Amino acid sequence: MTEQNSIQTDSAALAAKRILLIVAGGIAAFKTPDLVRRLRERGAAVRVVLTDGGAQFVTPLTLQAVSEDKVYRDLWSLTDESEMGHIQLSRSADVILVAPATANILARMAHGLADDLATTVLLATDKPVLVAPAMNVRMYEHAATQANLALLAARGVGIIGPDEGAMACGEYGPGRMSEPLSIVAHLAQWFRDRLGPKPLAGRHAIVTSGPTHEPIDPVRYIANRSSGKQGHAVAAALATLGARVTLVSGPVRLPDPPGVAVVAVETARQMLDACQAALPADILVAAAAVADWHVAGAGEKKLKKQEGGAPPALLLAENPDILATLSINGPQRPALVVGFAAETNNVLAYAQAKLARKGCDWIVANDVSPGTGTFGGDRNSVHLIRREQPVEDWPDLPKTDVAARLAARIADHFENGKK
Ligand code: C5P
Repeated sequence: MTEQNSIQTDSAALAAKRILLIVAGGIAAFKTPDLVRRLRERGAAVRVVLTDGGAQFVTPLTLQAVSEDKVYRDLWSLTDESEMGHIQLSRSADVILVAPATANILARMAHGLADDLATTVLLATDKPVLVAPAMNVRMYEHAATQANLALLAARGVGIIGPDEGAMACGEYGPGRMSEPLSIVAHLAQWFRDRLGPKPLAGRHAIVTSGPTHEPIDPVRYIANRSSGKQGHAVAAALATLGARVTLVSGPVRLPDPPGVAVVAVETARQMLDACQAALPADILVAAAAVADWHVAGAGEKKLKKQEGGAPPALLLAENPDILATLSINGPQRPALVVGFAAETNNVLAYAQAKLARKGCDWIVANDVSPGTGTFGGDRNSVHLIRREQPVEDWPDLPKTDVAARLAARIADHFENGKK
């Protein structure tokens, strides 16, 4: 797998995960800044506890710089404890990773010692713990270490590696800490194994989101008030259910949703091109607020105000209708095409008409009349209109919940229809 592919696959599992990394005192500690960097590049948040032994091999400053967070060192530090007590620290993560896990820290973990911050955190935690052992081959093979590892494994501690190879001490055998990328892959798989079912695994979804910008000249454009929040939330929700998602987005001020491939566009024509380039797909959700018109003949030069002259007349030309174009029957038509209908009045009647006119399968209709706060806001109140099925009126919900419900209905559709 290429590095880029590994970032993409592992990001879906690691994005937004909180990892508490305990760095104990082995030579392999020098690899932990790279480990932190790799985890963070896949979207995980990493907080570090560094033991005194660990600090012999890697500086707190290095780990602080790569984690962009405070590095916790001392059980007896009043500042550490007042900022985040050891109990809170031990619970503020989704998983605790001990890397490198030396023979000494494994022994202390196995026997419940709590004589420094790292071991106190490990004893106080209610979170899952994974260890990446790293030590000399004889220490690793010693009956005491093997018994400690067996005890920890029996208590549910996950063990990553160690690898076999040449050691810093000149000997050869098992005991080398797994490479950072292999620890990352292991952790990603560990999270994937714990996730719920992935009903949309193997499906490709294209989602459009945000406004479009239609240039008047190189500096001015026609736009609308869409924030992209709903479309981005739909992309994230489909990815959570296992779909491979291509999010074709107009200009928005939102972070890319984790585990989603984002194609940034500006105009409606670019949006259509990007969607067509992303085909084939099983699902299309057209949530973008696409401009109906563009300025015909928008030039390369900025329009100039003419002293005493009339303002320029803008000639508008129609934009392609992305939803209608991609709904046309043919081999490339996604099996399920979902449009959005933002209306200010007669919401249901107009939306029903839109379903027929555009040729899509479902419409999510919402009221955007002034006062609803839908545009740019975080909540949405919608109706789901599907051919030959009763209309569903959903209560006022956060846009992320609307997205999760829609993704669940889409998963049901494929599950029931087994298309
Ligand atoms: O026609 P109207 O803009 O109300 O239709 C809204 C639906 O059509 C939305 O799903 C929107 O993303 C889609 N649409 C489109 N291309 C256009 C106009 C609207 O895909 N040019």
